[in-house]
Amino acid sequence: MKGRYVVIEGLDGSGKSTQHELVCKAVENNLAIREPGFTPAGEAIRSLVKDPAIPRSPRTNSFLFSAARVDLIDTVVRPAITSGQHVISDRNWLSTAAYQQVEGAEAADVLQLARLAAKEFFTPDLVIFIDVSAKECQKRLFARGQTAKDYFDSKGVDYFANVREAYLDALQNVGHYIVVDGSQPVDGVYADIMRALKANLPQLF
Ligand code: TYD
Repeated sequence: MKGRYVVIEGLDGSGKSTQHELVCKAVENNLAIREPGFTPAGEAIRSLVKDPAIPRSPRTNSFLFSAARVDLIDTVVRPAITSGQHVISDRNWLSTAAYQQVEGAEAADVLQLARLAAKEFFTPDLVIFIDVSAKECQKRLFARGQTAKDYFDSKGVDYFANVREAYLDALQNVGHYIVVDGSQPVDGVYADIMRALKANLPQLF
């Protein structure tokens, strides 16, 4: 039997990576991946895109994130799913749709690229969007002391608010998704996610 492909999405500071880790502990026979990165080429691209000293356009970013995605889909995701492993991804093309559109890339370009890069994985079996307001995310990132350090994390609350809106729009292109209230404590968010996974994809357990 083929594996399933599940994606966890959210703003920086939404608790996405914590929930990704928890879900991966609960799901049988899974492969935990993250975007951008995971493969050697993907990790090299990750270092490039996270380097604020390298100037580039929003379109360049769209292509860079998509190139990392092609490598991941072709060398990791497709073989894993074919062999029956469940792939649980921290981010996917929805991040490109949300972040790069807000940076100024055109929506149609980003979606076309996403389809090309993700191929048959354009529509995951389930996307879980952890919804937290931009203000709350900023507060959490600030508490972590990360705000100014990172190219993407240093843009301010309006940027995050726009990214959240772009996420909610982009989700309309995905058949199966849930929006979870990420303002709850970790346990509450996790309980909502597990309930949705058990109802929609019982084969994961
Ligand atoms: P992430 O790994 O979630 O952040 P962290 O460094 O906290 O682990 O993601 C890195 C950044 O890249 C994040 O700010 C979102 C951004 N990003 C895009 O702009 N476009 C994309 O397509 C992806 C996958 C990420």
